[in-house]
Amino acid sequence: MRKPLIAANWKMFKTPAEAVAFTDAFIPLVAAQHHADIVLCPATTSLSATIEATRNTNVHIGAQNMHWLDNGAYTGETSPLMLTAIGATHVLIGHSERRQYFNETDETVNLKLKAALAHNLIPIVCVGEQLAEREAEVTAEVLQRQVSAALTDINPARATPIVFAYEPVWAIGTGRTATPQIAEEAHKIVRAQIAVSLGAELAASIRILYGGSVKPDNAASLYAVADIDGALVGGASLDPTSFAQIVINSVA
Ligand code: 13P
Repeated sequence: MRKPLIAANWKMFKTPAEAVAFTDAFIPLVAAQHHADIVLCPATTSLSATIEATRNTNVHIGAQNMHWLDNGAYTGETSPLMLTAIGATHVLIGHSERRQYFNETDETVNLKLKAALAHNLIPIVCVGEQLAEREAEVTAEVLQRQVSAALTDINPARATPIVFAYEPVWAIGTGRTATPQIAEEAHKIVRAQIAVSLGAELAASIRILYGGSVKPDNAASLYAVADIDGALVGGASLDPTSFAQIVINSVA
């Protein structure tokens, strides 16, 4: 019922030329993979080149961040209007690295989510606990707070496109993947909170991705969890063969 979504978060890697070299190699490897939505999120400077390079393919392009306003005196920012104008279809919101290093808060995540929906961008809202929070056994509270804040005043009638990504901060870039059991438990908490905010029917249809050291060899065991609807991949998405294998391994 929920179509898998496999997204690459390239973070601050790849020039436009490197990004196009990736898409040239990657597109043929996944051309027959229609079971999942495939999204690449390059750096802002590579958005246009990758959008051109993936035109008329089954690969979609998203931004890693955006401001919530259409325009204004906000040096260095990119607006949803600018993203849709060049043909981006998705946007990551609230990635833990933005929360940790760039003052992203639950409130700005909410503003960005509303802006994405207003501009018909598919938002991938990232949530996840830090190691200290897991050790203090407050994971459930952290996830509930992040999800409910993100969904504050979101009109359920417009909420269908929303995608969540559960990314435990301690699993990002560490090679330490959440076990399928840990991920399942967290995804259930996230889905239950979506139900509180938006109702059970929407909660059952909204996709929740897992992110944090997803690799070709652990992808299948994560996808086997009923509540995991895809992956948000960092390091292993930088190589076309490795990311294609993660897409291919997501066949249910
Ligand atoms: P890694 O796959 O490198 O752990 O990164 C995960 C991530 O942050 C994706 O957004």
